[in-house]
Amino acid sequence: MIKNIDTIISKSEFNFKEILYLLKTEGEERRKLFQKADEIKSANVGNKVYFRGLIEYSNICSKDCYYCGIRKSNKNVIRYRLAAEEVLDAVKYAYEQNFASIVLQGGEVDSPKFTEEIESLLVKIMQITNGEIGITLSLGEQDKETLRRWKNAGAKRYLLRIETSNTYLYSKIHPVDSKHLFENRIKSLEMLRECGYQVGSGVMVGLPFQTIEDLANDLIFLRDFDIDMVGLGPYIEHDQTPLYEFRDSLWDKNTRFDLSLKMIAILRIMMKDINIAATTAMQSIDKIGREKALKVGANIIMPNLTPLKYRENYLLYEDKPCIDEEADECKNCLEARIKFSGNQIGYGEHGDSLHFKRRTGII
Ligand code: 5AD
Ligand code: FES
Repeated sequence: MIKNIDTIISKSEFNFKEILYLLKTEGEERRKLFQKADEIKSANVGNKVYFRGLIEYSNICSKDCYYCGIRKSNKNVIRYRLAAEEVLDAVKYAYEQNFASIVLQGGEVDSPKFTEEIESLLVKIMQITNGEIGITLSLGEQDKETLRRWKNAGAKRYLLRIETSNTYLYSKIHPVDSKHLFENRIKSLEMLRECGYQVGSGVMVGLPFQTIEDLANDLIFLRDFDIDMVGLGPYIEHDQTPLYEFRDSLWDKNTRFDLSLKMIAILRIMMKDINIAATTAMQSIDKIGREKALKVGANIIMPNLTPLKYRENYLLYEDKPCIDEEADECKNCLEARIKFSGNQIGYGEHGDSLHFKRRTGII
């Protein structure tokens, strides 16, 4: 039997039915859910928002995920890879502006050459920042040796979304072949943890064929996997991808956005001390989408530092925001936005996942 909203949100452990109830809240109940998430955030991770300067290193990708605009088979994309100097310039900017952390993200390539290339970049990044910058990688599934080498070279966090925890749905949104196996994604997440990374994962909300029950299970998955960081956001169709044909069967964009907000809020209550990103995809639907996410539990923002001329080639989905703004404009814009959301920026602080620190006995 379902109890009322106050009883549910006063607990810290939710079962499947309770999560489902929370995902379906409207009006006053929805408001209470969001308020509770905000309180839990203040009490556990505070009202600081940490910056992760995002560098979209390369859109060259060996994968063919059916939702993604830069999938291998999309011949309309002009492929690029940043020169080491371009990456280092972006890193310098982040360092000088006291961002304290960067994310190096790119298409998935697995080759000894790629492993080495990233390794040597990491070493240089550490050198020019006196070992002070916090590095997050988001470069897809890699073998354990590669992950270890990158960790030793200075990376300390890794983002790898599970995309959906429903194995059947996973097989519908990816090619069914050895490069796109759900089991491999899980194995990679386990290896990341074994290598000592702060491990981030997440899902897309509103995929074709996805149900609200799937979303409840996604939250349970993230909790049971004991993840340190989460990035989740609405699925947004891209006309040069196979899933585009299902666009008419999707929930409308506002619903996808609202469910993403609720996912963030519920997760904050379930996993009080993790880091949660206010993702760019949230803003592509709602102009103040990221601010809304910060108000219901998110505490991380990723300002885009990719050199402007490459940004239009890194369009994972339609209407991606901030493709015309220089790093400085983005920074100023974000500062204003974060103040508006009642948060402060944690300049000069890594803002590591407290969950990770507790899990590994650092605190
Ligand atoms: N809509 C929303 N998010 C997407 N991603 C890729 N394609 C899309 C899309 N069409 C997300 C995936 C991936 C991350 C880098 O971007 O979750 O893990
Ligand atoms: Fe990029 Fe506002 S955050 S322009």
